[in-house]
Amino acid sequence: MPDEQHVPPRELTETESAAIDWAGLLANLGKKVLHVGGGPSTEQLLELAHLEPDQHVLDAGCGVGTTAIEIAQRFGCQVTAVDIAPSVIERAATNVRAAGLQDSVTVHQGDILELEFSDDTFDRVIIESVVMFVDRAQAAREVVRVCKPGGLVIDHEAYFTRGAPDEIIQSSQELFPGFGLEEPEGWVGLYRNAGLSDIEYVSGPAEFIGPGYIIRDEGLSGFLTILGRLLTHPTYLRQMAGMLPRVRRVQPYIDYIVLAGRKPA
Ligand SMILES: C[S@@+](CC[C@H](N)C(=O)[O-])C[C@H]1O[C@@H](n2cnc3c(N)ncnc32)[C@H](O)[C@@H]1O
Repeated sequence: MPDEQHVPPRELTETESAAIDWAGLLANLGKKVLHVGGGPSTEQLLELAHLEPDQHVLDAGCGVGTTAIEIAQRFGCQVTAVDIAPSVIERAATNVRAAGLQDSVTVHQGDILELEFSDDTFDRVIIESVVMFVDRAQAAREVVRVCKPGGLVIDHEAYFTRGAPDEIIQSSQELFPGFGLEEPEGWVGLYRNAGLSDIEYVSGPAEFIGPGYIIRDEGLSGFLTILGRLLTHPTYLRQMAGMLPRVRRVQPYIDYIVLAGRKPA
């Protein structure tokens, strides 16, 4: 299948557009890890995925391809990566080429709500911070549909903890409209209804804003690249200056979950 294939456009929801805007800004700045649990949650996801060489993995909502590339490099898997936003898909394709992984990682434009793949295609389906921005039940059904019987679906998402004041939740809706006030059980129920069994999960506080976290995920040179682009692009600086105080206010009330379940054989 060719790289950068384009699916027919559909009207995006407000939450999808917000996710794309936020991911697009971070991607333009050079950030490679675009989910709230950061590098540590990806590590937990990889542990729960029990990856082995030659497995076929789908990364649904892959952003700039960081985890897809890591899975191919570290585990020797064949990875298909899809995202709905053409700008991040282009970056993902560039990153795959830069890593010399064109034979192991294919990148397509694709919609998690209408995956172009046949039933029972992938040994593993991974998702990082995507389902919360879309019709959750439909997305969960789709990722389970394309997973092979006996395969695993592993998803990382975020939610407001029960202690989050109403005012924080209200004021953050423009920025994070996909986040709901949920406990992990809500995510477990979603995937149980979509057909997964043997569901296990880990959860914890989401920490993603601040120099320390950026250096943790992107390294010092990545941090300096991001800072340099921010300071030399007034549009990015304006966008970030508008978002940052709001992100800082909500961060203490956001937890992440990494959940894995098996599609019954
Ligand atoms: C928070 S980013 C996470 C990106 C990547 N998974 C990561 O963790 O670095 C959310 C991503 O979901 C993508 N997205 C939003 N709606 C989508 C949809 N309907 N189908 C596929 N991807 C979608 C956005 O374009 C964006 O790249």
